[in-house]
Amino acid sequence: RPSAPAGRGPENHPAPDARDTTASLENLLNETRSFPPSPEFAAQANAQPELYEEARADRLAFWARQANDLVTWQTPFTETLDWSQAPVARWFADGTLNAAYNAVDRHVEAGLGDRVAIHFEGEPGDTRTVTYAELQRDVSRAANALAALGVETGDRVVIYLPMVVEAVVAMLACARIGAPHSVVFGGFSADALRSRIADAEAKLVITADGGYRRGAASALKPAVDEALAPKDGAEPTTVEHVLVVRRTGQDTAWTEGRDVWWHDALEAADTTHTPVWVEAEHPLFILYTSGTTGKPKGILHTTGGYLTQAAYTHRNVFDLKADTDVYWCTADIGWVTGHSYVVYGPLLNGATQVIYEGTPDSPHQGRWWEIVEKYRVSILYTAPTAIRACMKWGEEIPAKFDLSSLRVLGSVGEPSNPEAWTGYRRVIGGDRTPIVDTWWQTETGAIMISPLPGVTAAKPGSAQVPLPGIVADVVDDEARSVPNGGGGYLVLSEPWPSMLRGIWGDLERFKDTYWSRFPGIYFAGDGAKKDEDGDIWLLGRVDDVMNVSGHRLSTTEIESALVSHEIVAEAAVVGASDDLTGQAVVAFVILRGEHAGRASDADGAAAVQTELRNHVAKEIGPIAKPKRILVVPELPKTRSGKIMRRLLRDVAENRTVGDATTLADSSVMELISAGLQKPSSSDD
Ligand code: WT7
Repeated sequence: RPSAPAGRGPENHPAPDARDTTASLENLLNETRSFPPSPEFAAQANAQPELYEEARADRLAFWARQANDLVTWQTPFTETLDWSQAPVARWFADGTLNAAYNAVDRHVEAGLGDRVAIHFEGEPGDTRTVTYAELQRDVSRAANALAALGVETGDRVVIYLPMVVEAVVAMLACARIGAPHSVVFGGFSADALRSRIADAEAKLVITADGGYRRGAASALKPAVDEALAPKDGAEPTTVEHVLVVRRTGQDTAWTEGRDVWWHDALEAADTTHTPVWVEAEHPLFILYTSGTTGKPKGILHTTGGYLTQAAYTHRNVFDLKADTDVYWCTADIGWVTGHSYVVYGPLLNGATQVIYEGTPDSPHQGRWWEIVEKYRVSILYTAPTAIRACMKWGEEIPAKFDLSSLRVLGSVGEPSNPEAWTGYRRVIGGDRTPIVDTWWQTETGAIMISPLPGVTAAKPGSAQVPLPGIVADVVDDEARSVPNGGGGYLVLSEPWPSMLRGIWGDLERFKDTYWSRFPGIYFAGDGAKKDEDGDIWLLGRVDDVMNVSGHRLSTTEIESALVSHEIVAEAAVVGASDDLTGQAVVAFVILRGEHAGRASDADGAAAVQTELRNHVAKEIGPIAKPKRILVVPELPKTRSGKIMRRLLRDVAENRTVGDATTLADSSVMELISAGLQKPSSSDD
């Protein structure tokens, strides 16, 4: 890779103070405005102020109580936390349990079999209602089908599906037999899928013929076929079977002996299945996420601690009342939010929820609000990007629907600017609902920092306080806690039940990435500030990770994709502030000698941009496509060869270029700026 490797120098971890955005300054101005819970809400809330006191008095006893109250154990645990192998934690280690039993069977045993688990709404308007009893039958069938196809406890299963009920069933069927699942977002390309299948050494892939998006059927299975096809230089695949859900009915290529229809396999399977009781530390899933290098990290989560914290946070942060609420989290199961707050958290708590397959604007921009009205959704959890888009489309659209059922709103994935927050509360929440701005990560497994809706006076734009049982801080370069009013790095100072247990197959990378910046404490990669009350404000990533529409993308991964194209000699990628998506991917590329002339006029530059954007979509997926690609003659580098992304960000955000005195060649920035008088912009 031609670009400099990611290091820990000041260029990669600039002090957060130096990169304050306008949004964060606005945050600070808005600090004084807060929204206390109404007395009625506070009186009935699941979480009361004493929860903080209980956790502070004895943190481990607090977590043991949550584990016993919210999870059903086959064998009770006797030890809460074993931290002797730090940073690999063992929670509730001598207990045994099963995740699918906890999510489904125990509710049926408690007489709740007829309760609706899922109201499914397909993009074309088809619907399906699934009760807990039906879910139990389907999950049991699927578990038997997986076993019949040779999947054993401990084998990895890759799931590459649209947002359909079968995705939930597939995850739970894996959990039922103790086969860790690795869900790959359906928007990732065949190449991205191939590398994830290879890294996890998966035995089976579950996919669909396709799904519906923006009013049309799109295909999914061809990407699996391509990912499993023999490739020069690649190890042969470990996959023995592909289970295929029929969603769209489109023509599908078939590999006899390998491919099996999901409905055939389930029909042939028995409707009862005895869950496999696993130890609390048995792997539940691997989920790949972008880091600072080109290779995605397989984040490993285990069973007992993860389920405990997923259920605890879902119950308290959203104030779930399982017998009356209708909950809807708009995240795709391909992301961690879909794991913890579509599948495990809500189902463990016996919730009734909505699952929607498509995009918010299909067939019209009121689709989400129509769904809220139709199912009387009372708790809505989504990302600031979606709210900003909704505000852009116009307040009159949600105003056409009856949103009075809503009583709690949640936000996740990126810093929520105060305008989006207050708009969310006013337009969607009728100036009535609490909003919980929840900070967490794929690695943390569950929500870590968030207001509690009946307790905290909410401040627009701030995640505010670590949840009871969580210890977080903002520290300076020397790991010293900063005083109120100060800025620094967000760290988690004590282990928590749903923490990642490692990076699949790479213990060293796990230690190096999260535990070496500040020895002994977890470095999240985010900059943060404490306000005068000690509340935490997230300021965005301080490493080479971008956040586009709440999705995590790696600058290095996109750079690698760009330089794998034959016309590109070098590439540098930055995340530039964007009103709608938070950040947008902007790439600077140097073309290879013989192609250098191709971008010399506007048409040529546009053609190069289109070709390279499509190439990134093929290598990673459409979500990683740069919004803009600028062809430049040189890249700004320090004398040690590190790309100075800070200067490129200045260019991408149309700012005066900052201090360039540490560049090896200080004229480079003039050269770049001179060539970029009229930057072309993207088409989608
Ligand atoms: C990164 C984690 C957690 C599920 C979705 C993203 C950013 C997340 C917030 C928030 C400010 C946030 C952070 C974090 N982030 N939530 N409420 N306020 N920033 O999961 O892909 O693992 O990304 O998302 O930068 O490190 P992820």
